[in-house]
Amino acid sequence: MNNNIQEKVNSIIEDAVAKIKESDKLDKLNDVKVAFLGKKGELTAVLKGMKDVAPEDRPKVGQWVNEARETIEKHLEETKAMLEKAKLELQLKEEVIDVTLPAKKTEAGHSHPNTIALEEVERIFIGMGYEVVEGPEIEYDEYNFEKLNIPANHPAKDEQDTFYINKDIVLRTQTSPVQARIMEQGNLPIRILSPGRVFRSDEVDATHSPSFHQIEGLVIDKNITFSDLKGTLDVFAKELFGEDTKTKFRPHHFPFTEPSAEMDVSCFKCGGSGCRFCKGSGWIEILGCGMVHPHVLEMCGIDPDVYTGFAFGVGLERIALLKYEIDDMRLLYENDIRFLKQF
Ligand code: DAH
Repeated sequence: MNNNIQEKVNSIIEDAVAKIKESDKLDKLNDVKVAFLGKKGELTAVLKGMKDVAPEDRPKVGQWVNEARETIEKHLEETKAMLEKAKLELQLKEEVIDVTLPAKKTEAGHSHPNTIALEEVERIFIGMGYEVVEGPEIEYDEYNFEKLNIPANHPAKDEQDTFYINKDIVLRTQTSPVQARIMEQGNLPIRILSPGRVFRSDEVDATHSPSFHQIEGLVIDKNITFSDLKGTLDVFAKELFGEDTKTKFRPHHFPFTEPSAEMDVSCFKCGGSGCRFCKGSGWIEILGCGMVHPHVLEMCGIDPDVYTGFAFGVGLERIALLKYEIDDMRLLYENDIRFLKQF
């Protein structure tokens, strides 16, 4: 009986070693391991037959099985190491890197003229103590129009035809609604600059786009006058276009300011004598501005008998086109790196 068991164990070893030798892949080798050493494996089966062995012989049988397991494990490990090494070598051979190939070029981007111009404008106003704040691009009709003194049937609403999400929500047509939002918060005095994207249902051409950018400015404090407005915007124009720049304020109408004006700067190309750039007039229109309308202050919870203020709105693209002498706005939206790199 015991001899039979010993023969059986020996034949399991022989069998296992032969199968291990045949294994040329790691997963095949694992199958062999399971077949011989696993829970349902052949060697385990011998241990399970132990109940039929005379008690005094059991230690010996146990020892045979253990020795057989050790032998088989040793072969498994050796072969496994060999197969892993072969696999790695093959991989190294296949994945060889040709260091003589030319390197891939990484194209660095370039700041957009809008970004350069915006950073310049922000630098100027931050230097005068302004804080930069942002408002939502999707805005309530109430903030975009009503609170800026543009009631439902006002003609100014027609001029700023835009994209309606529903009857109460629009893509903002101007950055001016940020004024109302900031005034409502009631933290006085106010000195803010608010750049951002605005939308109007305009056809695309050299000077129009359905989506463009504005920069809004707002100052509210006690004793703010039109002189403060003129002085501030004059400094702005000189910083942006050069020391010799002159400014001119023409009366205009905006519903949310009274009085309102448009500011022109002397042409920085010809110095004001008239050239093609300024269409012979010597002046270039830059922005809209005015003293915040008392009714707007009231609607936003500020007492117009105590506080006054001024506001202005400037088109960012307009500044970028002028400053960098770009003659077609569409170039700003094509993101062609060859174009952008020039600024
Ligand atoms: N929001 C005006 C526009 O889009 C520009 C503007 C004019 C803004 C006068 C102002 C302002 O703050 O005071 O045409």
